[in-house]
Amino acid sequence: MRAALLITHVRPEEKLLLAAFGARGITPDVILDRDLVFDLTAGPEQYAPSGVPWSAYDVVFERCVSTSRGIYALAVLNSWGIRTVNTYRTAVTCADKLLTTLALTRAGIPQPHATAGFAEDSAMRAIAAVGYPAVLKPVTGSWGRLLARVNDHDAAEAVLEHRFTLGDWTQHTIYAQQFVEKPGRDIRTFVVGNRTICAVYRDSAHWITNTARGGTTSNCPVTDELDELCARAANAVGGGLLALDVFESPDGLVVNEINHTMEFRNSSAPTGVDIAAAMVDYALTLLSQPAAANTEATL
Ligand SMILES: Nc1ncnc2c1ncn2[C@@H]1O[C@H](COP(=O)(O)OP(=O)(O)OP(=O)(O)O)[C@@H](O)[C@H]1O
Ligand SMILES: [Mg+2]
Repeated sequence: MRAALLITHVRPEEKLLLAAFGARGITPDVILDRDLVFDLTAGPEQYAPSGVPWSAYDVVFERCVSTSRGIYALAVLNSWGIRTVNTYRTAVTCADKLLTTLALTRAGIPQPHATAGFAEDSAMRAIAAVGYPAVLKPVTGSWGRLLARVNDHDAAEAVLEHRFTLGDWTQHTIYAQQFVEKPGRDIRTFVVGNRTICAVYRDSAHWITNTARGGTTSNCPVTDELDELCARAANAVGGGLLALDVFESPDGLVVNEINHTMEFRNSSAPTGVDIAAAMVDYALTLLSQPAAANTEATL
């Protein structure tokens, strides 16, 4: 059994994953994404930076901080039929909030009303359609960066002018969400395969509750309702190892977004669940299935 851990750098999460592999007698090769060179017109017999052919790996665990490196590496590996966690399809959907919304819509998962527009006038109409206050988000991004809550038409106009004048093309896709009134917290759940293994509340006085922005975590019981919703939502984006943001809206639970290379350093202690161990065990269960089952739905 040969595994690789593909990373940008070692975060506390990767240390925990390496320890969990170690506890199962496996020492993955650690591959840095900055060292990758792919011959795109050749196949999986070419050598990885670790000095063995890519085809030697039974599974490649992708944990890049760099979204673009992670996604393209998964595209290459899956196109060669190499088993990965997560798959390209899951990663590319989760990395983009607009594509995630579409996948959730197709699966009938409750979520905040969301719209998109691509020019200043049409984007203003898209924002008005979700109503004020609205939340504007870059379609790719994390840690709550560049999120804007706009309470009225004037604020929306100001944000759009900045995005279209100062931003590059990635800022010119305007994705707007209805602002959801939450009870001073939201829920972060961890899905492994078809199961919600644990969840935390993230409490914050600020409407952005990310722990990277100062939110504090405490255990959230996984009810059948929460488990079923999150498993369905995870499945809708291709499944795997995922973290979901869930809001307790006045109309019930809604799924805000899904992360495919989640951080979990603050969540094992309050939940008492060894998240890294569950992630590694999931990767190992994939080995009993043909690699094609993991990669065929991908490209
Ligand atoms: N529509 C909304 N209504 C109310 N609060 C929201 C809304 N969208 C986002 N938030 C708050 O902002 C936080 C960050 O939003 P979101 O998760 O969409 O962005 P992100 O930058 O991708 O964060 P992550 O690091 O989790 O990927 C949410 O966890 C939530 O607390
Ligand atoms: Mg989030």
